[in-house]
Amino acid sequence: MTNLAHPAPQFSTGDAEKLSEQLFNVIGTATPLDGERDRNYRLNTGTDAGWILKVVNSSEPRVESEFQTAILSHLATHSPELTVPFLKKSLAGEYLASAVAPSGEIHAVRLVSWLHGTPLAEVERTFELMRSLGQSFGEIDRALQGFMHPGAVRDLDWDLRHAARSSSRLHFVKDPGRRAILERFIERFEKTVQPKLSRLRAQVIHNDGNDWNILVDSRNHQKVSGIIDFGDAVHTILIAEVAITCAYSILDTEDPIGAAAALTAGFHEKYPLQSEELDVLFNLIAMRLVTSVTLSASRSDRTQDNPYLGISEAPAWRLLERMDRMNPRLATAILRKACGFDAIEGAGAVRRWVAENSKSFADIVRPSAATMNKVIAPFGDASHVMTIASAEQRPAQATKWWNDFSAEHKVPLGIGPWGEERTIYTDTAFESRFIEGQRRILHVGVDLIMPAGTPLYTPVAGVVQSVEVEHEPLGYGGLIMLEHSPEGCPPFLTLWGHMAHEALARLKPGDRLEAGALVGYMGADTENGGWIPHVHFQMSTDTALKASEFIGVGERAYLEVWADIFPDASTLAGIPPETYSQDGRTKAEIVAKRKELLLPNLSISYSDPIKFVRGDGVWLIDNFGRAYLDCFNNVCHLGHSHPDVVQALSRQASRLNTNTRYLHDNIVEYAERLTATLPEGLAVASFGCSGSEANSLMLRMARNHTGRNDAIVLDWAYHGTTQELIDLSPYKYKRKAGKGRADHVFEAAVPDAYRGVDHWSFEELGKRFAESVADQIELMRKQGRSPAFFLAESIPSVAGQLFFPENYLKEVYAMVRAEGGLCLADEVQVGFGRVGSHWWAFETQGVVPDAVSMGKPIGNGHPMSAVVTTREIADSFNNGMEYFNTFAGSPVSCAVGLSVLDVIERDNLKFNALTVGNYLLDGFRKLQQRYDAIGDVRGLGLFLGIELVTDRKTKVPATELARKVADGARERGILIGTEGPHDNVLKMRPSMIFSQTNADFLLEVLDESFKAALR
Ligand SMILES: Cc1ncc(COP(=O)(O)O)c(C=O)c1O
Repeated sequence: MTNLAHPAPQFSTGDAEKLSEQLFNVIGTATPLDGERDRNYRLNTGTDAGWILKVVNSSEPRVESEFQTAILSHLATHSPELTVPFLKKSLAGEYLASAVAPSGEIHAVRLVSWLHGTPLAEVERTFELMRSLGQSFGEIDRALQGFMHPGAVRDLDWDLRHAARSSSRLHFVKDPGRRAILERFIERFEKTVQPKLSRLRAQVIHNDGNDWNILVDSRNHQKVSGIIDFGDAVHTILIAEVAITCAYSILDTEDPIGAAAALTAGFHEKYPLQSEELDVLFNLIAMRLVTSVTLSASRSDRTQDNPYLGISEAPAWRLLERMDRMNPRLATAILRKACGFDAIEGAGAVRRWVAENSKSFADIVRPSAATMNKVIAPFGDASHVMTIASAEQRPAQATKWWNDFSAEHKVPLGIGPWGEERTIYTDTAFESRFIEGQRRILHVGVDLIMPAGTPLYTPVAGVVQSVEVEHEPLGYGGLIMLEHSPEGCPPFLTLWGHMAHEALARLKPGDRLEAGALVGYMGADTENGGWIPHVHFQMSTDTALKASEFIGVGERAYLEVWADIFPDASTLAGIPPETYSQDGRTKAEIVAKRKELLLPNLSISYSDPIKFVRGDGVWLIDNFGRAYLDCFNNVCHLGHSHPDVVQALSRQASRLNTNTRYLHDNIVEYAERLTATLPEGLAVASFGCSGSEANSLMLRMARNHTGRNDAIVLDWAYHGTTQELIDLSPYKYKRKAGKGRADHVFEAAVPDAYRGVDHWSFEELGKRFAESVADQIELMRKQGRSPAFFLAESIPSVAGQLFFPENYLKEVYAMVRAEGGLCLADEVQVGFGRVGSHWWAFETQGVVPDAVSMGKPIGNGHPMSAVVTTREIADSFNNGMEYFNTFAGSPVSCAVGLSVLDVIERDNLKFNALTVGNYLLDGFRKLQQRYDAIGDVRGLGLFLGIELVTDRKTKVPATELARKVADGARERGILIGTEGPHDNVLKMRPSMIFSQTNADFLLEVLDESFKAALR
């Protein structure tokens, strides 16, 4: 054991010069250097950088001198590029020579190269320099990995594994406040670090990265140029190297943890650290300081204030005091994040789980925040009246401003975003504990502003951790914390601030709340800390934090760290990301550009148009983050942006897309799968890109097959956008700018059972309506004509969601076929299982058409269509003229078509359409009992209509009411349409994944919209 009290070797400068010449053949001028125990001289040779002659204290065991020599020669051999001194061999070929002092004592002597540079102690410490310092030690320690020497096993008080020995020196620290700080760190070390020591990586380390042992490049102060003095090297835990170097280099820095993080990250770059090592780092940094100040105190007791020993005492105390005020978990999070780890173990997994499971969350407010009209509240604007009133604790004024705004703009929900900069937090509590002179200003919760008393429900099941009241003005008031442990997700906490105090009596720690259960109510200003009523909703991925340890606002410099620990809770609260940022043109700009650039015939839905930016299942999300329940668009059959379809499309598009003149598996596989859904006989498929193309092709086939031209269609039908289809669409040719019925078109009455002739019995309805077709055939006959085909939608849609009475198509098909005409079914709107009971709506009539056209839902939004017909018709169409359609039937379209069929089958969506459809019909009928204006409710599966009348007897169409109800639904977050010759039928065709919960929302909104419209 080295005797610290043993005097330093007695050698004069002349002795030193002689020694270096005799032992090492180095001739130079010696200048003495500072040293505590050894005698060191700088040797200036005038020819090279010079040397240091080190005459070791004779009390130092030889093995320790040999150990240091072995380290330097190991580093020189294994990593010669390292910035450490190299040893010069003596003339006798030894790294460690011997010298005899005038006193007769024998000393070990070695000569090491002089390294250029400025001591770190004399240089301004920047994060870049800290990083370089970390890199230097990382490189050295990586090179020392696996190095061992008998002298490395030493018992040093400076070995951080023994840091708890400081307890025995505590009594030297006279100030009780300071002693208490040390006690807290020692206790934490004993509790949280000591038990882990044996599992941490151990090796030989330098162990004394103080700022006199570190040299900085004199020309570039951002770069370390040398590490010297391996006198304290020891075999101990690797992370101690980082802790010790941090402890010295971050003294008196503005942002010590930031500086430590930069150093640690530099080390990690060169020698990757493990997360367990980072978890003990904060405490170890402190423990180095604890060791230092207690040793200092104990020695000054003995050596009467030797200034060399106490040199870093004051800054060490300042740092200890600062570190004592920091939350060690948050500080550790900063250090972890700097090295690329999650700030808290599992933070990334929680974020991923939240993102992937967002659809399963219960609404925290009702209706859900997603569907509500909402704006960003002005808390981020320091000059706003509401913000000023809040900061000045005049909550009544702040609340009045919000209430007036909310009523005027019909915005029931205000949002205070995560990450918003807020300068209203002026209390000393908001001073940063990490960065000197900075305030915490970035909001790391999400605020939902609604009236006091608004109930709040937990989005996922949880267990109550605490229910308390913070009484400070502008504090949280009622404060509830839940812990959630959903399957497949690390546990996390939610904090609910500014709540009503009633929760204190209702909830207690340990209570389990299922998803959707009541958590509490938004508190009034008298109980919420004196704020405008709102909830501060915050997540924490660190489950060890107490509610009082959450920070609701954080430092900007550490936003990434807070994002891990206190991730944006918006998704959990059901707030779509579009709420926070808008891109692209404003609605008004788009309207203006459309006017300027696009065909003016394009119409726009709603007087206040909607700009949608995202589709997600049954939801469409507008550019302000409002989600609308889409009950109108039957094209997104499986829901918007269905992942299977998107994947099938992108996978095939990234591999091959070409035309049908080359062979490809997809087209035959799709034709096989599609025809299998149809009755026998309908066996030959062909493809197009739109419903109109399919219908157009179907007409060509029928005309070619029959050699005739004339058509029978139903009144108010729509079949497509080309001129020949407009000619077959009374909905077009009879309305604005229509040219009227063409000669080759014969128009039968559309069977409207609701408006059927009163004296017709229910059983005979089909037959009686079919008479209109018979009349048209008769008319044709009179003109010497006969039908090429009868074309009808299997459920007339634009005519007002009309359902054929039983036997109708049977009667009609028989008549048409008797005349030699073909029967064509337009299933562009109603096909693909929408009716629930069958794949195809014509099947509900017990008929098999000669050809069927399909479109809209076929590709879930991808432009494709199909016609399926009989072998006989297909063969006759093969008359020599090629059918080539550039894009139709491409590998991509067929991949999309296949994935749509897969999902319908795999997810049993026909059954869903039927059950949810029946549930809705039931609900509509209940509404009908309450609202006389509902004349008729009809539907099958998810093809639904509600016809509105002013009087149930006279059945006068209630067109204006239908518009008001549809507009009211939009106002409340639901998209439906109006249809029929009088636009008095509410039309709904939601996607096949529509759930009972969606249905309940629709029923609720319809109810409210009727109520409001009839008021
Ligand atoms: C029944 C029916 N057939 C055909 C079409 C034409 O389809 P597309 O617009 O894809 O050309 C439509 C479109 O609304 C339709 O509703």
